[in-house]
Amino acid sequence: MSDTPIPAAPATSSDAAEASQEQITTEIGALAARYAAADGEELHTRLDYAPYRSSVLRHPTKDLHHADPEDLELCAPVFGEQDVAAVEADLTIQHRGEPIGERIVVAGRVRDGEGRPVRRQLVEIWQANAAGRYLHQRDQHPAPIDPHFTGVGRTLTDDEGNYRFLTIRPGPYPWKNHQNAWRPAHIHFSVFGTEFTQRLVTQMYFPGDPLFPLDPIFQSAIDPRARELMVAEYDHSLTQPEFATGYRWDIVLTGGLRTPFEETD
Ligand SMILES: [Fe+2]
Repeated sequence: MSDTPIPAAPATSSDAAEASQEQITTEIGALAARYAAADGEELHTRLDYAPYRSSVLRHPTKDLHHADPEDLELCAPVFGEQDVAAVEADLTIQHRGEPIGERIVVAGRVRDGEGRPVRRQLVEIWQANAAGRYLHQRDQHPAPIDPHFTGVGRTLTDDEGNYRFLTIRPGPYPWKNHQNAWRPAHIHFSVFGTEFTQRLVTQMYFPGDPLFPLDPIFQSAIDPRARELMVAEYDHSLTQPEFATGYRWDIVLTGGLRTPFEETD
């Protein structure tokens, strides 16, 4: 997971990791103003975005390298539809007990740039628990681990491109980008494509999160329209009475309304 809490790499100066939220917010504002003034259209996530400190040294600096697809197929992971069980889309039943938190249905459609459904697509998710804690060695911040929640699930889209998960609403969590940095609550998504080289990774957010303007990862999608595409909408028709609330989030793989992904071409 790209934003698992890790010590921020030193960026442009040795005290970069010590920036205050105010400094980061000022940098975000300056980049947004420059983008607005340029009158361009940039609907992807910026890979080199200084307020997201570790992206400065970590972003790719060379063009993609073309590889022989046949060679790749010899070593890339594969899966068959028979490998993905229906129960893997329910993150609340992976242990003996019930996980703590707000049950949510997260559902939507995966489509291509022409609006056609992407069928039999492997969709994988991973996320923090209700307290904002990942079940991951590198996440040691003082929030409880939920023994009944692992935070990973997967499913295949149906013939209409629809996917559906039942999970727990994740909490926001602190990370080491700057002083007192908090990520807005989010669910990581991977859509696999038809082969390993087409894998796309992004994050789904929840509407109205007060942390949006403060978060350099969310803001690294520099165009407000691109950020909107990463925010799910509350959908009462997805809820289950007295059991779960519901959020709809559609994913578009290509074209002008393409969902912003973390790796772009
Ligand atoms: Fe995360």
